[in-house]
Amino acid sequence: MNREIVLESDNIYYVNISYDLIDEYLKMFNNPNIKKFITADPKPYTYENRFMCVKEALETDTLIILSMFDKKSGKFIGNIDFDNITLSNAEIGIIINEEFQNRHYGLEALKRFIDYGFNDLKLEEIYLGVYSNNYRAINLYEKLGFVPYKTFKNVAIINGDAVDTIYMKLHK
Ligand SMILES: CC(C)(COP(=O)(O)OP(=O)(O)OC[C@H]1O[C@@H](n2cnc3c(N)ncnc32)[C@H](O)[C@@H]1OP(=O)(O)O)[C@@H](O)C(=O)NCCC(=O)NCCS
Repeated sequence: MNREIVLESDNIYYVNISYDLIDEYLKMFNNPNIKKFITADPKPYTYENRFMCVKEALETDTLIILSMFDKKSGKFIGNIDFDNITLSNAEIGIIINEEFQNRHYGLEALKRFIDYGFNDLKLEEIYLGVYSNNYRAINLYEKLGFVPYKTFKNVAIINGDAVDTIYMKLHK
């Protein structure tokens, strides 16, 4: 690993988001099996759009995005982030590449990042928004102790289905 390791857990190295990984990010965000859980916008993510996202994360204090690598294979796993960071709370987000899904990398990464949020960033609360048809993610968030606190109904039509956004939060 020739990148500076920011965090570490059993199977994962976490490094700062980086311009040279934009091609990896684009492949992941534009995978239809992933994109449908991230946005209802039918337009593909573009290089410029991902470039601006990296730039924002590197230049502001309110957004931290880390890229994850598998310790064993060295392969890119996905991204995990805190957005809208304040002194007391932040919104967490995660994307795991299809190849690594359902292998508990999501669970491991969220546990590590939540610990980082509460103990290093000194947050009091972590919240998130998830589409109501994202059963796998909801299952995982519940397992970690997140509880739903509000729902925005019918926020999007995804693959013909009307979906809600469920907001969930976790206290320290
Ligand atoms: C959601 C996501 C982060 C989960 O990470 P992951 O590494 O795939 O998940 P894990 O393997 O850690 O755990 C998934 C759990 O959900 C379960 N699961 C899988 N498919 C499921 C389904 N359709 N319904 C309910 N539970 C499901 C798994 O069995 C596992 O539970 P278990 O530990 O009790 O067996 C990842 O799949 C992902 O990035 N998906 C695409 C993007 C996305 O949805 N991001 C979140 C947006 S809010």
